Amino acid sequence: MTDIAAILREIHETVGRSADRGRVADYIPELAEVDPGRFGMSVVLADGSEHSVGDAAVPFSIQSVSKVFALALALGRLGDRLWSRVGREPSGLAFNSILQLEHERGIPRNPFINAGAIVVTDAVLAGHAPREYLGELLRFIRAAAEDDGIHIDDSVARSETETGHRNFALAHFLRAHGNLENPPELTLGAYFHQCAVEMTCTQLARAGRFLMAAPGMPRMVSADRVRRINALMMTCGHYDGSGDFAYRVGLPGKSGVGGGILVIAPGRAAIAVWSPGLNAQGNSKLGTEAVELLARRTGWSVF
Ligand code: DON
Repeated sequence: MTDIAAILREIHETVGRSADRGRVADYIPELAEVDPGRFGMSVVLADGSEHSVGDAAVPFSIQSVSKVFALALALGRLGDRLWSRVGREPSGLAFNSILQLEHERGIPRNPFINAGAIVVTDAVLAGHAPREYLGELLRFIRAAAEDDGIHIDDSVARSETETGHRNFALAHFLRAHGNLENPPELTLGAYFHQCAVEMTCTQLARAGRFLMAAPGMPRMVSADRVRRINALMMTCGHYDGSGDFAYRVGLPGKSGVGGGILVIAPGRAAIAVWSPGLNAQGNSKLGTEAVELLARRTGWSVF
């Protein structure tokens, strides 16, 4: 039997020796304060057992990992109608790029780049107050994790609201193309707070169990949707680093600039890793290396 606890200890030691931990995101001032020396990892197995190492109980800003939960909510609310407003193709460009929007009539390539995630949030918001949307999102995440302690860090949301000029540009551009139903400030207010959800690795791995599709795990969405969300995580979850992540890890994953990654080994495990230093594509550097090692040691792969 694979000894996950021993593998996690080995991973922790290996990444601890790493001289290059990547660079902490600083375009959201509040995130620039985070200690780059942090590292945590949690694995929930299909039998419900849990294993953690390092700073797995320290909360961090999940940022773009929240886009997975928002997408699950949007698909539940709109079904396939969502795909008239956002595509399902990798963009090959940075997460915050505006380039393709102009050529592609304001339809973002996929729901995980910022433009696509803003459309997803806008679609669920649908004229309701951001507070109602955020309440629904938190209910979803808390139910998935079976943990009512999960909350939003308002200071991170405020920090991004003050500096999120690229996202404002994206939202206004979407609105100009008729692909934003709510005023940009309203949708972005909801989006910035969604990104500011704070979780520990343990909470995030538990919240990801519904994507594992194993018997006895929380059933938040249909099995069909679980497969499709995983497909999008595999093809688009790491932006212009998605191909490299698929090549190195072989499992669907979604990253965030807070340094967290949620990774799913279908039928086997939900994995959360956190290391705040990022690589050139804005994905956790050591987090990626850690799940690459985990996949190699366990043999977990969708291929
Ligand atoms: O919109 C942003 O720029 C951030 N709130 C989230 C971006 C993000 O996490 C990209 N992921 N690596």
